[in-house]
Amino acid sequence: MLTLPSAPDFRLDNQRALVTGGSKGIGFAAAIALARAGAQVWIAARNTAPLREAAELAAQEGLELHTVALDITDTAQVRQELSRLPDFDILVNSAGLARHQPFLEVSEENYDAVMALNLRATFFLSQQVARRMKANHIPGAIIHISSQMGHVGGPERSVYCASKFALEGLTKTMALELGEAGIRVNTLCPTFIATELSRASLADPAFSRYVLDNIKLKRLGTLEDVMGPVVFLASPAAALITGAALLVDGGWTAT
Ligand SMILES: NC(=O)c1ccc[n+]([C@@H]2O[C@H](COP(=O)([O-])OP(=O)(O)OC[C@H]3O[C@@H](n4cnc5c(N)ncnc54)[C@H](OP(=O)(O)O)[C@@H]3O)[C@@H](O)[C@H]2O)c1
Repeated sequence: MLTLPSAPDFRLDNQRALVTGGSKGIGFAAAIALARAGAQVWIAARNTAPLREAAELAAQEGLELHTVALDITDTAQVRQELSRLPDFDILVNSAGLARHQPFLEVSEENYDAVMALNLRATFFLSQQVARRMKANHIPGAIIHISSQMGHVGGPERSVYCASKFALEGLTKTMALELGEAGIRVNTLCPTFIATELSRASLADPAFSRYVLDNIKLKRLGTLEDVMGPVVFLASPAAALITGAALLVDGGWTAT
């Protein structure tokens, strides 16, 4: 007999979300999208002024963003801050860094800085949050903001690509180890979006041309482009999706 299916449900009411890098760019857009979908949202970043500005902007729409001043590369500080915060149902890891150099010139300092944030900090913060999800029987959703550069190489992006490919591998193993606890782990992989992180690259006309040549839909990504996908991956609508990469790349990786 035909019955009416109840899904999809994109609402996140009564869910608590933590967004790292939530004061700016993609993280801020993710935080707003999650809050609009009904979640209670905490945003974490190092600098307090942008955190305050983000919360004030959200408040203009009647949305509350709780702020956490935190350097996520400091694992001891992460442990301490998280111990003061409630359990989370949703974690979005957006804090990230890019330092582009030709492979033959990459310095150890730049390698260490990118890996420390994009991989190591994300790894151990996720471990802390997932431990609590599992211990408290929370069928959580963890979303790493990876990149299309977690799937293809890019010029002068050896370290950045290495960090994002590593995130993709981390996601697969987290998904298979945490699946039994009902915890879903996925990546969201944007193409170029104009933010502080990409500003210098996109300011170069030759690089901009290269970018638009490779995006099949012939435009840069926007913050709005990632908002629906974040809510989708966090929501019951994605209940059977784990270990996956959601490419929001305008078709860059299609070839
Ligand atoms: N923009 C793009 O074209 C693009 C494309 C694909 C993927 N991505 C990925 O998307 C993510 C977000 O990028 P975005 O463009 O939104 O960057 P963004 O505008 O530069 O924002 C970065 C955010 O991370 C925070 N952050 C940086 N270091 C931190 C640390 N040690 N501890 C805690 N927070 C820290 C920043 O705040 P504070 O500086 O105050 O700490 C800020 O809130 C990154 O993982 C990036 O790799 C970006």
